[in-house]
This record gives sequence, C-alpha cells and structure tokens, in this order.
Amino acid sequence: MADFLLLNGPNLNLLGSREPDVYGATRLDDIEANCIDVARALGHSLDCFQSNAEHELIDRVQQAAQDGVAFIIFNPGAFTHTSIAIRDAFLAVAIPFIEIHLSNTFAREEFRHNSYFSDIAESCLFGFGAYGYELALQAASEYAERSIANAEEE
Ligand code: DQA
Repeated sequence: MADFLLLNGPNLNLLGSREPDVYGATRLDDIEANCIDVARALGHSLDCFQSNAEHELIDRVQQAAQDGVAFIIFNPGAFTHTSIAIRDAFLAVAIPFIEIHLSNTFAREEFRHNSYFSDIAESCLFGFGAYGYELALQAASEYAERSIANAEEE
C-alpha cells in the first residue's frame, strides 16, 4: 500500500469543455474519481489536486514530501514548457513521477515539444487522452511494488 498524488496544472480544470477535439470530452472530476477507484483496486491511496497557479503546484509538491507520498502523476499543462520553478521543486523532493499529457505534444506546435520535466521524470505518457491517467496509475503501482520488494531484500 502506497500513497500517490495526482497533480494537474493550469486549465485542466476545464477538461470536458476545453478544446474537446484535442483533449477529449471527459471532465477532470470524472478522471479523478476514476483514478481514485483504480488506485484503490490496486491497493493504494490517491490524493488529487489541480491548480492554475504555479506557486500552489510547488507548495503541493513540497507538501507531498512531508506527507510521505511515494509517487506523483503530473500533468503540468502549459507549465510543461515554461516552469523551471516547478522542475526545481521536483528535484528538491526527489519523489519519482510520471509526466502525463492528454495530447501528443510532439505532434503539435513546436513550442510544445520542449518539456522541463521529461528528463527528470521516471517515465512519460503522451497522447492517450483520459485513459493515459489509468495507464500512469498502473505504472505507478508497479513502481511502488518494486520499490517495496527491493527495500525488503536489503
Ligand atoms: C497538455 C499539453 C500542454 O501543451 C497544454 O498546454 C495543456 C495540456 C496535455 O495534457 O496535452 O494545457 O499538458
């Protein structure tokens, strides 16, 4: 049993109505509810947090370290392409994380091709829409179970 955190950045509160041709028709509430169910079925707990504010995302990452969160699933939204400050927060807490995007950012405008997170993430998921969050949770669960098994061996 591990504690996971699902973090979503700016404008992802508008999922469902925001550019549905790019991001799909599923609302963030529904993604979060489904993820909580999936995490529970895998034997883990999940907290969800969304913010449009860079400092709130940084505060939540710092708090995750104090709470003993084992793994973070993070869609930084447009902060993907701009935020050295959030990158530094992840480096500071050293909590493993998956970077996730609903769309395949590499198939879009060139300014979306750069990410401040991909090189420090455990792994990255692009372009699976809302289903990507489920995939990320399964991967997080695998990762946590491997870490627990490794710790027991030591
Ligand atoms: C996004 C991709 C970003 O480029 C964009 O700014 C978003 C959403 C995605 O999930 O596809 O807000 O992170």
